[in-house]
Amino acid sequence: MPYSLKDKRVLIVGGSSDIAAALATDLLQEGARVTLAGRNIEKTTVAAKAIGDAVRPMTLDLSDEESIQAAADQVRTAGGLDHLVSVATERSNGPVASLERRALLAAFDAKVVGPILLAKHFAQLIAEKGSLLFFSGLAAWRPSPGLVAMAATNGSVSTLASALAVELAPTRVNAISPGVIDTSNWDTAVPDKREWFRQIATSAPVGRVGDPSDVSAAAHVLLVNPYITGETLHVDGGARWS
Ligand SMILES: NC(=O)c1ccc[n+]([C@@H]2O[C@H](COP(=O)([O-])OP(=O)(O)OC[C@H]3O[C@@H](n4cnc5c(N)ncnc54)[C@H](OP(=O)(O)O)[C@@H]3O)[C@@H](O)[C@H]2O)c1
Repeated sequence: MPYSLKDKRVLIVGGSSDIAAALATDLLQEGARVTLAGRNIEKTTVAAKAIGDAVRPMTLDLSDEESIQAAADQVRTAGGLDHLVSVATERSNGPVASLERRALLAAFDAKVVGPILLAKHFAQLIAEKGSLLFFSGLAAWRPSPGLVAMAATNGSVSTLASALAVELAPTRVNAISPGVIDTSNWDTAVPDKREWFRQIATSAPVGRVGDPSDVSAAAHVLLVNPYITGETLHVDGGARWS
């Protein structure tokens, strides 16, 4: 029997992101029971309600172990979890000479230390055939000036997925590495989003930037395929090779 996500309990950390919204929407349509977690409960509640009344909001701050433990305690009381996904990121971009320790630590909390603590507190709550899924990104595989922290954190995510896959087996642990995806954070990240996307599309083998639905479809594969673990799935339209 193929593994179905119907009735599976999925917790998505970084709940206010567009990619989390796309994944939550698709999971809901498949009959999964979705919880969105975020460090700001008001923002996370708004994001959950925008997807559907069935989506539950939860507080979880990846830079605060007590908050992670409290979320895990809630999940334990509710009977456990099938899949835990973290899409969270904190950006600490700029020339290396300008980088500040506080922002660097926040970036590592969101992508590396936080996910390790998620594994620490949630791994024993994951049901048979369940998995953990973390988010890497193209900057690790195609470094650019000004993106040193992004490269280092995203590269660590991929290594972390392999290491946790070995330690937490048979629970599966995977990573997704998106390329440029058309999400709202680009509205302010570049001066002219449309022109930036046009340039990316011109150089990308697939001739376009990604859509959150592309990432959600790839996440689906990693959640349901019982023979994939320790893997990083690149959803970048071939951008590593352009
Ligand atoms: N969009 C792209 O083009 C692209 C490209 C490559 C990789 N990716 C990766 O894909 C993932 C999703 O990207 P996105 O653009 O949709 O992200 P995004 O819009 O920047 O959202 C990031 C999310 O992380 C949350 N977050 C940050 N620090 C946190 C913490 N300490 N605890 C809990 N949550 C925290 C934010 O919460 P708040 O709302 O509270 O700030 C927000 O919900 C990220 O991992 C990103 O690196 C995206």
